[in-house]
Amino acid sequence: MEVIIRPTAEAASDLVARIIARDLRANPHLVLGLATGRTMEAVYAQLVGLHRTEGLDFSLCSTFNLDEYVGLPPADPHSYRHYMNRHLFNQVNIDLRNTHLPDGMAADLDAECVRYEELIKRFNGIDLQLLGLGRAGHIGFNEPLSALHSRTREKALAPLTLEQNRSLFADPETMPRRAITMGVGTILEARRCLLLATGPKKAGIIARAVEGPITSMISATALQLHCRCTVVIDEAAAAQLKEADYYRWIFANEPEWEQFR
Ligand code: GLP
Repeated sequence: MEVIIRPTAEAASDLVARIIARDLRANPHLVLGLATGRTMEAVYAQLVGLHRTEGLDFSLCSTFNLDEYVGLPPADPHSYRHYMNRHLFNQVNIDLRNTHLPDGMAADLDAECVRYEELIKRFNGIDLQLLGLGRAGHIGFNEPLSALHSRTREKALAPLTLEQNRSLFADPETMPRRAITMGVGTILEARRCLLLATGPKKAGIIARAVEGPITSMISATALQLHCRCTVVIDEAAAAQLKEADYYRWIFANEPEWEQFR
């Protein structure tokens, strides 16, 4: 795992967007794993900007989102399909047929989870998986006690997740209580993982995810097992890390990051 600390949330999301852009330019057929949440909005805005100003080309890439609420149709403004169309897909030259999310409206949700896993395999796996971090320590919707080998499946949302995301719903009572999410095992199979977390509310959970013991209570700790995982945070989210100076030293010395310093 590498930890990159940027001075501000804006600088952190800008770095994440530039890493994605670098990989997309190197491989126009990139299979991108995508995440939702407030933190990612800035990344997508940066990518839309790079598309407009530098012609960043999405026409050949494919995407797989981490998760989707159960029971929300794509047209529902609270669905993750709607979020993705609004913040990214409708603003760049991606072919919507190449964009994939689990179908939270499927009549048979278990079959839908199997279909999603098989589809990812048919695309030869995910090259770069973007990840946010929930305050319960989840990646995707892998709530506390998610098996570290779990696959795409339906999950009940934990109380802290309901509390964290409720305010995003016009009528908080209508927030779904369940979601389909890629499993921790599915995420770990991505060839590269890139996690972004910003702001003081994420400082405690970032410290546990990066420096704490691996535990199914905090699914993000499983990323410590991944061979190519980069965690990008701002100073506010770095506040409780014990080894921040060491992470800064790595960023300053690793040749891969030279173009981003
Ligand atoms: C939701 C998503 C997660 C994401 C989290 C972060 O719960 N399912 O994948 O990591 O939001 O949310 P935010 O960026 O709003 O803090």
